[in-house]
Amino acid sequence: MSDVGERLDELRAAGLHRRLRLIEGPQGPRVTLDGLEVLLLCSNNYLGLADHPRVRQAAADAAERFGAGAGASRLISGNMELHRRLEEELAAFSGYEAALLFGSGYLANMGTIAALARRGEVVFSDELNHASIIDGCRISRAERFVYRHADLEHLSWGLRKADGRGALIVTDAVFSMDGDVAPVADLIELARRYGCRLMVDEAHATGALGPGGRGAVAEAGLSGEVDLIVGTLGKTLGSYGAYVCTSPEIVDLLTNVARPFIFSTALPPPVIGAAFAALGLLDGQPGMVEHLRRNGALLRTALADQGLDVGGSRTQIVPVVVGDARLAMELCERALEGHVFAQAIRPPTVPDGTSRLRLAVMANHRADELQAAAHVVGEAAQELGIAGPAPRTGIPPASGLPRAA
Ligand SMILES: Cc1ncc(COP(=O)(O)O)c(C=O)c1O
Repeated sequence: MSDVGERLDELRAAGLHRRLRLIEGPQGPRVTLDGLEVLLLCSNNYLGLADHPRVRQAAADAAERFGAGAGASRLISGNMELHRRLEEELAAFSGYEAALLFGSGYLANMGTIAALARRGEVVFSDELNHASIIDGCRISRAERFVYRHADLEHLSWGLRKADGRGALIVTDAVFSMDGDVAPVADLIELARRYGCRLMVDEAHATGALGPGGRGAVAEAGLSGEVDLIVGTLGKTLGSYGAYVCTSPEIVDLLTNVARPFIFSTALPPPVIGAAFAALGLLDGQPGMVEHLRRNGALLRTALADQGLDVGGSRTQIVPVVVGDARLAMELCERALEGHVFAQAIRPPTVPDGTSRLRLAVMANHRADELQAAAHVVGEAAQELGIAGPAPRTGIPPASGLPRAA
């Protein structure tokens, strides 16, 4: 039996120990964090819908009408009219014939990958895919081929080597820690050439990319051309849970063999009500997606102006890679002193030596807030010897953040 205290000491010694921070009140662009008012720059609530009055009200109405919980898994007695209707709506939103809800994105990836890649087959996974994809590949019992990030040549080589045993290529659409976008069109081409299925996880692309926020596949003009997409309800859609959009036949298979679907309680009605309202808002106010896109571009430029390298990001997720885990934590703490909260991300969430601040903008951040936040992060980085040359644009020195509206 391993000693718990020793393991915790090991984590502390490596600069990898984590602790929970506490937010008071609802999720918004500004929050009170451990008693301090901060600009929230690390939430996945990109469009601010988690706290939108209509989304709140829809959750409350669904609880009032249908109750707080589903009481059982879908295959026993938990399958409610609401689940069916949301699946139809999500399938139509994404351009597929069918959809299946899961308890979370983590569970959707675990269940779906394990259902589609089996012993004796090969699953191909981008090296920067989310942990839930990595874990899905691990439990699938298929052979794993982890290709270099977005490296189509490396993937092609792996597909050739698999010699017909390739079952599934799986990728994040928007990479969760880097904010860059998968080469969807090329992946479709390779999947077809080698007779493999392609699964794209749109967790950070839904609501952020594509017409009406329909995601990276839609942005590439290829809606419905990918065998399966995974989407989450807990990020841009402000609620909780996840879904897979695909063919009715694959939905039938997942319903029969995806263990996280079979052996877990169905999503509760308030969560479904909230997701419906969020989809309605996205449909009715596509301008939110444009706001998010503009805010992402603004933050990238403002950070670059501070001499910071934001890598290949072209979305609302903007990394500032520091390298060392302790240095990333130090940068996070110094940014907090300037009332900016961007969580430090360390291994195993990111590869060794690439610890970072992962900044994520929301559509309802103001331009002056983002400019000031970039200045705070830039100054802290300068103090720690992380940033390159001094600021280029002469943004006025900010003594903290501008006032809340
Ligand atoms: C790409 C990706 N897929 C799946 C998930 C898991 O989704 P959920 O939080 O709904 O479990 C995440 C979570 O951050 C993610 O980044």
